[in-house]
Amino acid sequence: MASRRPVLLITGGSGFVGGQVVRKALEEGYDVRVTARSEDSARAITSRFPQYSSQLSSVIVPDLTRVESYRNALEGVTGVVHTASPFILDPADNVKDLLDPAIKGSIAILEAIKRWGPSVTRVVATSSFAAVVDDTNSKREGYTYTERDWNMATYEQAAASADGPYAYRASKALAEKAMFDWVKEKKPSFSLTTICPPWIYGPYAHELKRTDNLTASVYLLSKLVDAEDVPSFDFGGYADSREVAAAHLLALDAPEAGNRRFIVGQEFRYQTAVDLARDSMPELRDRLPVGKPGYVEPGYSLDGSKAAEILGLTYMSLGETVKDTLGQVLRSGHIAAKA
Ligand SMILES: NC(=O)c1ccc[n+]([C@@H]2O[C@H](COP(=O)([O-])OP(=O)(O)OC[C@H]3O[C@@H](n4cnc5c(N)ncnc54)[C@H](OP(=O)(O)O)[C@@H]3O)[C@@H](O)[C@H]2O)c1
Repeated sequence: MASRRPVLLITGGSGFVGGQVVRKALEEGYDVRVTARSEDSARAITSRFPQYSSQLSSVIVPDLTRVESYRNALEGVTGVVHTASPFILDPADNVKDLLDPAIKGSIAILEAIKRWGPSVTRVVATSSFAAVVDDTNSKREGYTYTERDWNMATYEQAAASADGPYAYRASKALAEKAMFDWVKEKKPSFSLTTICPPWIYGPYAHELKRTDNLTASVYLLSKLVDAEDVPSFDFGGYADSREVAAAHLLALDAPEAGNRRFIVGQEFRYQTAVDLARDSMPELRDRLPVGKPGYVEPGYSLDGSKAAEILGLTYMSLGETVKDTLGQVLRSGHIAAKA
């Protein structure tokens, strides 16, 4: 008998964020179809969730910038979560490595849904707080960012920049704007919601067998261990991978979330993270820099309250996030245990 569960298409299921979205969707009872670039990648994803084999399938999308790639992916699909996008802070070529896959990839999936996904009612895309932040004003002391703020970097600036993180941030802003512009112009039968998290920490959905490809945010947090000093302010916010996944799924169903963006995140300072980890992880206490305990470096803040009010998201504590992130990376052997 055919399944009656709603079918969710998830792109980027091999990644850190996508994996948590897949896990949460399976737990919530969806039939999940993941896109992967290769058969190997598809197998790796499905092997992570053996208990859900009857709910999880995959489809190969070799090039996410080509509309035709999705021709066979959308049958019976009622909702789409698009997380696939390069999270690369040191691109060799800003256009090929970042801007093309981020922007063209975002539009290609919308076009494909319009053509082949008549039952899709909501698309939720992973944008970033990078698309919100003012890139000309790095610390912006005293300012609180909301969903009304946009990173105003242009395509030309991003393409020409020698600053990889700047080009990445621009790729997210340009892709998100392009998606909303497309929806405004084409008026499809589905609505779009974007999720804008800052640094995402928290665990992967699966235990880590290899750590050479840790996503940049988790990698940077793991570098606190054995660091000489506490890093200074860079991106003043964080979210937990589990709450980011929850936000994507809540956004699929929340009637008022259509054609809106949501900051999902809370204020972050490295010093606070170090203080919490030193208190809660005795195994790492002597390996974390002390810095100035209790000090909150001046810088901007961010308002993630709309995600709580409109999506119904419950935020976790930074202590839990830091402990679970470092704990998983420690178990993986990426941070060598001290004898
Ligand atoms: N981690 C953070 O702190 C953070 C914060 C805010 C927003 N985000 C956003 O969250 C999303 C996922 O990031 P992540 O941290 O999960 O990174 P990740 O672990 O590197 O995962 C990226 C995912 O996107 C796919 N992807 C990347 N480039 C692609 C391309 N050119 N063609 C097809 N697929 C491609 C990857 O597929 P393969 O496995 O085939 O490479 C992978 O599934 C991205 O949109 C990122 O911008 C991340």
